[in-house]
Amino acid sequence: MAARRPLIVGNWKMNGLTASLGEARALAEKAAASRPVAELGLCPPATLVAAMANALKDSAVGADVIKVGGQDCHARASGAHTGDIAAEMLKEAGAAYVIVGHSERRADHGETSEMVRAKAAAAHRAGLIAIVCVGETLAERDAGATLKVVTAQIRGSLPDDATAANTVVAYEPVWAIGTGRTPTTAQVAEVHGEIRKDLLARFDEGAGFRILYGGSVKPDNAAELMAVADVDGALVGGASLKAADFWPIVAAKGLQ
Ligand code: 13P
Repeated sequence: MAARRPLIVGNWKMNGLTASLGEARALAEKAAASRPVAELGLCPPATLVAAMANALKDSAVGADVIKVGGQDCHARASGAHTGDIAAEMLKEAGAAYVIVGHSERRADHGETSEMVRAKAAAAHRAGLIAIVCVGETLAERDAGATLKVVTAQIRGSLPDDATAANTVVAYEPVWAIGTGRTPTTAQVAEVHGEIRKDLLARFDEGAGFRILYGGSVKPDNAAELMAVADVDGALVGGASLKAADFWPIVAAKGLQ
């Protein structure tokens, strides 16, 4: 099994207008200059997916330095689902990834692991890499239920056709998202180790899946978090909005 290539993905959430594309270009220029070993992705709001993909393609550095992704997709390829976006539409707009099952969607839109699993399968159908998010709430952690919750989410959210090539797992403790709080490295290692064990038990390629950590990853804590066993990269929210903040995080994992 080849070594897992680090992956650093920015999730812009509901932030970004056309003017923000300059940040993506700035990041692409930094990446082109230092050729990180890591794969880099940016997931802007759906309104910017095509524009960002084009901006990165048009830049002198080429499209492959940073790939673009969506933040959610519908399970169906088309139909009467006002306001939803199909994985095929993201693919046509230039996306390579789609995030599914982010805790903000699980909480704000009542998404269950069963729904997330259908969305991940839709991503695969469309030729996208699904970035499947899992993570416990603070109440669940305090109750000692972290591993049980995360394992149930992993089992429920990954479709049977998941492979190391078409699926990435992101562990994002809900209480660490946007709070400035992060788990200890021992807590991260424990959960990532458990996820790896589960992947190995279910999938032939379990050793090859990349497992990202997300939740208040910042320039000043990235090196420590990225050095933890079975942490193959990061899913970054707030600190991905500015190239000047995101680049040091890329450098923490991607320039070795
Ligand atoms: P923050 O990096 O802003 O905590 O967000 C993490 C996240 O939810 C990425 O998907």
